[in-house]
Amino acid sequence: MAADHMSTASQTHMFDTPEQLAQQAADWIIEQASKSGARFALCLSGGETPERLYELLATPAHRARMPWNRTHCFWGDERVVPHADERSNFHMAWEALLRHVPIPAANIHAIPTEQMSPAAGAAAYATTLKRFYGADTPEADRPLFDLTLLGLGEDGHIASLFPGSPALLETERWAVAVMGETPPDRITLTYPVLASSKVTAFLVTGERKRDALARVRAGDPALPASRLQTAGAIHWFIDRAAAATPALSGA
Ligand code: 6PG
Repeated sequence: MAADHMSTASQTHMFDTPEQLAQQAADWIIEQASKSGARFALCLSGGETPERLYELLATPAHRARMPWNRTHCFWGDERVVPHADERSNFHMAWEALLRHVPIPAANIHAIPTEQMSPAAGAAAYATTLKRFYGADTPEADRPLFDLTLLGLGEDGHIASLFPGSPALLETERWAVAVMGETPPDRITLTYPVLASSKVTAFLVTGERKRDALARVRAGDPALPASRLQTAGAIHWFIDRAAAATPALSGA
């Protein structure tokens, strides 16, 4: 049942409800951060699924246990709208989490979406990532990110890598503009960069994700999520509605 086609190590964490999932994921992220090295590079996901998790990380009990000084936040994708726009992934993470915690401003690496074209924004973000990483090419034994959070679209997309998109074929650039596919335009990290993560966590909840989840976990190559080839560990945080597994309690 585990998605071993993607990675040498895959683990599933199953929950009765999205709330339980968010609670456990918050503690688990703090654990990942605590055991990381000099800095903890965290690649955030957009979408609705992680919002509750972000809110929990901002609560006093969680906030105090997270090493914010050495945590660096990045995003897997962004909508090309101002950062104050409700549709912005930066905006969601800022409102739910970042504005409430003592993370240094210099550690927040938002994808630029204003005053430049989407292609220029993607190129600028690639430069930011390369500078942080200290090299122009991801090295197999030295992941860029410590932890990458990913949601799963009903069509199997991850970040803004949509089925049939030319962005799926990108092997050189670290970030690209995704124009006119699913408005608004987007900027997304590409496979080689998303794959350069020590640990990847998929957060998937709700019945609507059931079909995509089953197909990705079976390795269906038509779905972009199936084609992520990471050498790192994969953790699936899923609820019973998405997994189509009845609750043990029978509630
Ligand atoms: C975004 C994402 C995207 C998201 C999925 C799932 O910007 O929307 O990063 O890849 O994770 O679409 O979204 P939900 O969590 O809202 O279902």
